[in-house]
Amino acid sequence: NETEKVNTKIITFTRFLTEEQTKHKEASGDFTLLCHALQFSFKSIAYYIRRASLVNLMGLAGSSNTTGDEQKKLDVISNELFIEAMRSSGKCALLVSEEEENIIFFKENSQARYAVACDPIDGSSNLDAGVSVGTIFGIHKLAEGSTGKAEDILKPGSELVAAGFTMYGASSQMVFSQRGGTVNGFTLDTGIGEFILTHPNMRIPRSRAIYSVNEGNSCYWDDRVKNYFESLKQPQENGKPYSARYIGSMVADAYRTLLYGGIFAYPADKKSPKGKLRILYECAPMAMVFENAGGQAVDSNMKRMLDIVPENIHDKAGIFMGSYDEVEKVKAFHKS
Ligand code: AHG
Ligand code: MN
Ligand code: MN
Ligand code: MN
Repeated sequence: NETEKVNTKIITFTRFLTEEQTKHKEASGDFTLLCHALQFSFKSIAYYIRRASLVNLMGLAGSSNTTGDEQKKLDVISNELFIEAMRSSGKCALLVSEEEENIIFFKENSQARYAVACDPIDGSSNLDAGVSVGTIFGIHKLAEGSTGKAEDILKPGSELVAAGFTMYGASSQMVFSQRGGTVNGFTLDTGIGEFILTHPNMRIPRSRAIYSVNEGNSCYWDDRVKNYFESLKQPQENGKPYSARYIGSMVADAYRTLLYGGIFAYPADKKSPKGKLRILYECAPMAMVFENAGGQAVDSNMKRMLDIVPENIHDKAGIFMGSYDEVEKVKAFHKS
């Protein structure tokens, strides 16, 4: 009888970054150090979420943020953890966070070459119910010679150096992708405190009959959006309609969509003419992950999400993203 086989050839996120770095002869190691700080913030946010109901971290903080959301205690704490991780990395010149009205400039990091956007906790309305939430991040490089200004982050997603998210669910899952690269998934092993490469080269299925949208908003949708979703509820070629799945945490809905395929949408509508989700730290990072995994992401005008340039840091957009063929279908409904 065989003894339990232990996999000793594990690839940690740290090892993964080191191996990536050696592929780029010119790399200074700054990006790697920035990513080390990122993964530390994910580990600590995961830790506090796990302990939230034990240490009085449930519920509202009693404040609201610039985009009008009520802040949960964990929104505030995770934001502070994230800011501190970026500041102390020494490699981040400026930071945009959902929970901060203005850009934070880390003047002390005078040699830093990177600008980071983050949603410290995505799906925070789900927190008290123990439903999966996440952290979303996007990393830009400063323009040559810049010491950090708003223009270094008010850029289209196509210029992101790297982006991804961590989902805090039954386990913590980090999805990481660099511009023009593959998408890799890591699972946090809480025993050894490391993210382990468990999902190398993630590819989103070409199509899948699952849609994910807050259908409670359908009275505000325009006819093209209404007709599109209505069509999914009719029997398809195989005689069956699409399945509906909506968690209400974009990170969790996106992670499922990435693995199983289908479509996730938060369209612009009569109530939110510019959409609900924010470009810099929600839409663009997700769009990069989806494109690099073989899928697509567009806004409510069916423009490529990665081409949208925000004017202000908290600007919003409608979004449709998912399997390549599912997004093609949405586009077809917007042509007619
Ligand atoms: P956040 O918790 O970071 O403010 O984001 C909330 C977002 C996103 O997670 C989710 O997809 C969406 O809001 C859910 O909105 P509805 O409750 O309107 O469906
Ligand atoms: Mn919020
Ligand atoms: Mn969010
Ligand atoms: Mn948030």
